[in-house]
Amino acid sequence: MSETYFGTPRARVDGRAKVTGAATYAAEFTAPDLAYGYVVSGAIAKGTITAIDSSAALAMPGVLHVFTHENRPRTAWLSSNFRDEVAPPGSPFRALYDKHIVYSGQPVALVVAEDFDTARDAAALVRVTYDTEAHATDLDQERAKAYVPPKKRSGIEPPPKPRGDAPGAYDAAPFKLRQEYRISPEHHNPMEPHATTVVWDGDGAITVHDKIQGVQNSQTYITNVFGLSKDKVRVVSPFVGGGFGSGLRPQYQLYLAVMASLALERSVRVVLTRDQMFTFGYRPGTINTLSLGADAQGALQSITHEAVAGTSHFEDYQEVVVNWSGGTYHCDNVSFDYKLAKLDTYTPADMRAPGAPLGMFALESAMDEMAEALHLDPLEFRLRNYAETDENTGNPFTSKALREAYRQGAEQFGWSRRNHTPRSMKEGHELVGWGMATGMWEAQMQQTSARATLWPDGRLEVACATADIGTGTYTILTQIAADSLGVGMDQVSVKIGDSSLPTSPVQGGSWTAASAGAAVQAACFKARESLLDAAQKMDGSPLADATADQVVFANGRMTLRDDAARAVSYADAMRAAGLDTLAVEETVKPDPKVQKSFSSYTHSAVFVEVRVDEELGVVRVTRVVDAVAAGRILNPLTARSQIIGGVVFGIGMALTEETMADHALGRFMNHNLAEYHVPSNADIQGIEVIFVEENDSKTSPMGVKGLGEIGIVGTAAAIANAIHHATGRRVRSLPITIDKVLGAELAS
Ligand code: MOS
Repeated sequence: MSETYFGTPRARVDGRAKVTGAATYAAEFTAPDLAYGYVVSGAIAKGTITAIDSSAALAMPGVLHVFTHENRPRTAWLSSNFRDEVAPPGSPFRALYDKHIVYSGQPVALVVAEDFDTARDAAALVRVTYDTEAHATDLDQERAKAYVPPKKRSGIEPPPKPRGDAPGAYDAAPFKLRQEYRISPEHHNPMEPHATTVVWDGDGAITVHDKIQGVQNSQTYITNVFGLSKDKVRVVSPFVGGGFGSGLRPQYQLYLAVMASLALERSVRVVLTRDQMFTFGYRPGTINTLSLGADAQGALQSITHEAVAGTSHFEDYQEVVVNWSGGTYHCDNVSFDYKLAKLDTYTPADMRAPGAPLGMFALESAMDEMAEALHLDPLEFRLRNYAETDENTGNPFTSKALREAYRQGAEQFGWSRRNHTPRSMKEGHELVGWGMATGMWEAQMQQTSARATLWPDGRLEVACATADIGTGTYTILTQIAADSLGVGMDQVSVKIGDSSLPTSPVQGGSWTAASAGAAVQAACFKARESLLDAAQKMDGSPLADATADQVVFANGRMTLRDDAARAVSYADAMRAAGLDTLAVEETVKPDPKVQKSFSSYTHSAVFVEVRVDEELGVVRVTRVVDAVAAGRILNPLTARSQIIGGVVFGIGMALTEETMADHALGRFMNHNLAEYHVPSNADIQGIEVIFVEENDSKTSPMGVKGLGEIGIVGTAAAIANAIHHATGRRVRSLPITIDKVLGAELAS
C-alpha cells in the first residue's frame, strides 16, 4: 500500500455536507404522506396500567390512531426475538407489550397524527391510570442484594480468577489503604435525539432511517420482531449525530415507528424529546471498593477490586469495571469481585468506554493516595509497578508504548516541576493542582466485509455497512481506499450506513478503524489482483512476466517498479478484459492465534492542571496533556479530535455529569441539558494531544488500534488527583461538584 494519505492530516470528507445541512439525519428524511408519532411516557416506576383513555386524543382532528398495549399489533412472542447484536443476557424491554410498568418514563402509548403538533397535543390528552407497587431505584439500598451475573455477556470478559493471596498480602503489607470510590449514573446525551423515520414503500416493504450505530443491528431486530424477511426491510442511516453508546441497541422509538407504519400502511416518524432521551439506557451507578497494599519501596503487594453496579430487573447488563486493576500494574496478589444489583430502571447501556473510566477512577485514585502515603511521586510509583505483560492472562501485549507515553506526557506538561505537597501552589484566589493517571482500553478488530467498485476513469467506491457516528469513518476509509488502490482521495466515494451493504458490526468499542479499515484495504487489494490479471492477459502486455510485488499501483496505473516505461493504466486493463466496472468484496477477521496468545490494548498517560477557587469551590481544568499510544495513527487531525472529545467527556464525568434520581418517585429528575451539564466550550481550556509512536503488527493489518474511547479513560481520575493536589481534599465520588470540594468529609 502506498502511504500518500495514510498518516497525514485530512479534513473530514463529509465536513461540507454537515456544515451546509446537506447531511440528512434520521428525523430529516421525509416521505409523501408522512405521519407523526409522539410517545406518551409513563408516570410511575413500577406497577400496572389499570386503564388508558385515548378518547379525547382520538377525537382531535388529524389524529390517526393511539397505540397502547391493549390494541397493539401482534409481534414475535418470544422475548429472544427482541435480543439485538449487543444485548446483555436477559429479556429485552418491549414497548406496549403488556400492562406492566417496569421503569419510570416507560412508553405507554404512541399517538399518531397527520402532523407533529397534533400528535404532541393529543398525547397530552391520553389519560393513564395505574396501580402502583413499591419500587427500588437506590443502588445504596439494593447493593446488599447484589449478585454475580449468572450468565456472561457476550464480548465482555468476566473478572479474571484471583492470583496469589490478595487478603494475606494486604494484611502483611506495611502500607495499605481501603476506600470506596463511587460514580453516579450518567446519560449519553448525543446532540441528535433518537429518531426513526419509516418510509412505507408499499407491499409490506419499508425503508427505515434510524438513529443507530449499526444499521444491520436495527435491520435484524426489525425482521426478528415483526417477522419480516430481510428483503422487505432496508435501514439507511448515513449520518449519526453522536452516539457515545446510546445508539448501539435499537431503541423503543424504532419499534414504535415500525409498528405504526406496518399497521397503518403508511410512512411514520417518531422522534424522542430531550427528556425522553433519559428514558432508556444509561451508564450505571457503580460503587467500587479498592484495597491496595504496598511495601516501603513502593512495590504493590496486593490489589483487591470489588464493584457493585446497577442493572434492570429484566437484563443483566455487564461491563468491564474491575479487570483493569489486574492488568494495569504488576502485582502478584490480586482478587476481583463484580456484582450487579437489580433496580426498577431501564437496563443500563454501554456509554463512552463502558466500565473503564469507572474502574480506573477507583484504581488511579487509590494509586495516587498510596503514592502520597509512600512519599513517592505518583508517576514514579506507577513506573515502579509497570506491567510488562498482561498479568490477567499471562500473555504478552501486542505492543505497549505506555512508558514512552508517560515520558512524553510528563515532559510536555512539565511534571518534573511539581511540588509534591498538596496546597503548595496558589495564584490569586485559586489553588493550583497537578494530577495524573493512566488510561487503558482494549484494542479490538471485528469481522467485517467491504466491497470495492472501480470504474475505468479511476473513480472508486468502497462500501460497508458500518457507521460514522461523528468519528471520521468516511474520511479514514477514503484515505485507506485511495492508498490501497493508488487513486486520489477525490476519486473515492465511501458508502456506509446502509443495511444492504457488506456486513459490519455496530460502530462501537473503538474497533471500526481497525475493522472496516482492514476490510476496505482487503477489497482494494483484491481489486489490484484482478487489475494485474487483466493487464497480464493483454496482447503483448508490458507487465506479462511481472510478479505482484514488482508492480506499483499509483495514479490509476500499474507500473513496473524498476522500469517506469512498462505500465498499463487501469482503464486499458479493464477495457481489454471487457469490464465496465470491477467490483470485488472481501471479509477480514481477527487472527485467532493473536487473540489466543496476545493481549491488545491502547494506553494513555493523562496529566491535568486544575485551578480551584478556595472560597467558591469552583474547579476549572486549565490544562490537559494526554499522551496516547494507540498503534499507527491514520489521520492525526481526526484522531486528535477523537481524543479531545474523550477528554471533554472526562471533564464532564469528573465535574458535572450526573443523572440524579428522586428515589421516592423512582425517576431521573434532571432530564434536560440545562440541569444535566455536558461540558460546553466555556468549560474547556487547553487540551494537548500527543500520539506516541507505536508499531503493532498484530492487532490489525495496518497496525491501527483504535481511539474512540481511550481519551476518556484516565481523565476523570487525573482531575480528581489534581483537585487533591490543589486542595488537600480527596473526593472519592464523581462528579466532584462544588459541595464536595468545599466539604469533602460530607461526600466521602
Ligand atoms: Mo461505544 S460505548 O462502544 O459506542
